[in-house]
Amino acid sequence: MALPEGFIIEIKERNDITDVASSYVNLRKRGRNMVGLCPFHGEKTPSFNIYTENGSFYCFGCGVGGDVITFIMKIENLDYIDAVKFLAQRCGLNMPEDGYDDSMSALKKRIYEANREAARYFYKTLCSSAGRAGLDYFHSRALSDRTIRHFGLGYADESFNSLCDHLRSLGFKSSELIAANLAVQNKNGNIYDRFRDRVMFPIIDLRGNVIAFGGRIMTDQKPKYLNTSDTPVFKKSANLFSLNNAKNSGEKSLILCEGYMDVIAVNQAGFQNAVATLGTALTAEQALLMKRYADEVIICYDSDEAGQKATSRAIELLRRAGLLIKVISIPQGKDPDEFLRNKGSEGHDAFLNVIERSGNDMEYRLQKLRKKYNLDLPEDKVAFLTEAVKILAALDNEIERDVYISKLSKECEVTPDAVKQQMDKYLRRRNYNQRKSVFREMQKNLSGRNDKLNPERYKKPRVTVVEESLLAYLIKNPDRLSFIESQLDESKFQTEFYRKLFIYFSKRIKDNCDPLTEVSADFTQEEVSRIYGLANSETARMANDDTLRENIDVINDEFLKLKTADMSKATNEDISEALQRLRDSHK
Ligand code: GTP
Ligand code: MN
Repeated sequence: MALPEGFIIEIKERNDITDVASSYVNLRKRGRNMVGLCPFHGEKTPSFNIYTENGSFYCFGCGVGGDVITFIMKIENLDYIDAVKFLAQRCGLNMPEDGYDDSMSALKKRIYEANREAARYFYKTLCSSAGRAGLDYFHSRALSDRTIRHFGLGYADESFNSLCDHLRSLGFKSSELIAANLAVQNKNGNIYDRFRDRVMFPIIDLRGNVIAFGGRIMTDQKPKYLNTSDTPVFKKSANLFSLNNAKNSGEKSLILCEGYMDVIAVNQAGFQNAVATLGTALTAEQALLMKRYADEVIICYDSDEAGQKATSRAIELLRRAGLLIKVISIPQGKDPDEFLRNKGSEGHDAFLNVIERSGNDMEYRLQKLRKKYNLDLPEDKVAFLTEAVKILAALDNEIERDVYISKLSKECEVTPDAVKQQMDKYLRRRNYNQRKSVFREMQKNLSGRNDKLNPERYKKPRVTVVEESLLAYLIKNPDRLSFIESQLDESKFQTEFYRKLFIYFSKRIKDNCDPLTEVSADFTQEEVSRIYGLANSETARMANDDTLRENIDVINDEFLKLKTADMSKATNEDISEALQRLRDSHK
C-alpha cells in the first residue's frame, strides 16, 4: 500500500500502542509488557499482551496480533487506510495529499452519502401522499410521529426505480448504488430499486452514518423483513440496531430485543438502551461490542420456543464476553412490542416492573429446568439436582455458588453437603475432560493439522519449527541478513508461507527498512497475526547466534534429504549434481 513509509512510522510513533489500547482494554503491567483481557474474544484470565519494545500486541488465547494500525482495524472495524486516518486524526497529523490508493475509502464515502440520501428520501415519501400506506401501518402499530422522526423511519414505494432515479439525479453512479445494495442489477444490466413497498428502518452506526436498512412488508408476504446485505460499510454480524441511541442513554445496561419493532416500542415507552441484532442470531462479535458500552445485558426475547432457544444461546455468548445477564420473561403477549401495545399509556411502568422482576441467567436456567420435573417425586428430585449442579458449575465465584447450593438444598429438602458433594464430583469430571481436550487441541496445533496459513507444517514439523525460528531471529536481527544469505537462499525453505516471509523480510532489509513497519498493510489479517505471533514468541526471545547456525544446518540438511528422496526417479545428471552438493555442504 503506497502510503509514504515515513508517514506510517510517524503515525506509529505518535500513537503509542499502550495508550491507544488502554482506551479499550484495562491493562496492567507484567514484566516489561502490559496484559489485559482480550477485546477480540471473551476470556476471564488475561492473555492479551502489549509489547512496548516493538509496538505490537498478541493474544495467546485467540492468536490475533499486529501493530497499532491492526489493533484499530480490528476494534473499530475499519480497513487499513481508514485505520491510518483514524490514528492520524487522533494525533493531529494530516494525511498525505496523494500517493496512496484511496479508492475503497472514496467508495465507502459515496455509499454513506447514498444511504443518507436514501434515508431522507424514504422519510419524505412516508410523509407524502405516496407514503400513506406506510404511515398508516406505523400508526396501526402505535408508533407516534415523534418516534417515527426520531428513528428516521420511512417508506419505499411500489415503483421499481423511484429511488434509483432520485439518487442518479443527485449524481450517484449505478455502480455506487449497487455497492450500497440500494439497487440490484437485472440480466440486461439495468438496475432497479431493491426495497419496494416496504416500511423502512435505517441502521445507523456509532459515528452517525447510515450504514444499512431493514424493510418490512406490510402484508403476510415473505420475506417479512428484507435487510441490506453486507457491503463495504456494513457487516451484519458486527452491528446492532439502535446502539447509536443506546450508547447515550447513560445506563450501564442494554436491553437486547429480537427485532426492530421491539426496540422502537421499548424506546417509545421510555427506555433508550434497547438494541437488536439485524435479522441473525447474536454473534460473539456483537457480544463484545455490547461489553464496550455496558456491564449488563437484559435479554428480552420473544416468549415462544424460538425466542427461548435464542435466549439460551445468547446467555452463553454474553457470559463469555464477561457481561452480567438478566432475562426478562414477558407475562402477556409474544414479544415486547405486543406487550407494550397492550399496555398503552401504562407501558413504561409495566415494562419497568417486568425488568425489576427479571432474574439473572442462573435463575432463568434453573427455572427452565425446574419446569421439566415434578419435585414431589424423589426420583425427579435427584434428576433435577444432578442437572442443576451442572448449571451452577458455570459460576466461577464460589460464594455465588454456595448461595445457590443452599437455595437448592432447601427447595429439594436435602442437606447442602449432599449438593456440594454432587457438585465436586461433577467439577472433577469436567476439569478432567477440559484438560484432556485442551491437551488434544495443543497436540493438534503442535502437529500443525489446524494450520490454514501454512498447511505444509503438518507434514514437515521439523523444518517448519526451524524456519519459524530463523524468521523470528531475522526480524530481531536484520543486520544478520547477509550472513544468513551466505548460508542459504529462499529455495531452501520448504513451506510456501515462510518462504514468502523470508523473501519479504529480505527485501525490506535490503531496502534499509524495518521488517515489520508495513506488515499490516501488506498482509491479510491472519497473516499479520501469525507474523506478530512469531515476532513475540518464546522462540524469538531464545534465538541467538548459536541457534541460528543450528537452524541453518537443519534447513540445509532437510533440503538435501528432500533431494535424495527424489533420487529413485532421478537421471544420472541429477545424481551427480546431488552428490556434488553433498560434498559441498560438508566442506
Ligand atoms: P413484527 O412482526 O414486525 O413485529 O416483527 P418481529 O420483530 O416481531 O418479527 P420476528 O420476531 O418474526 O423477527 C425478529 C427479527 O428477525 C426482525 O426484526 C428481523 O430483523 C428478523 N427477521 C424476521 N423475519 C425476517 C425475514 O424474513 N428475513 C430476514 N432477513 N430477517 C427477518
Ligand atoms: Mn413483533
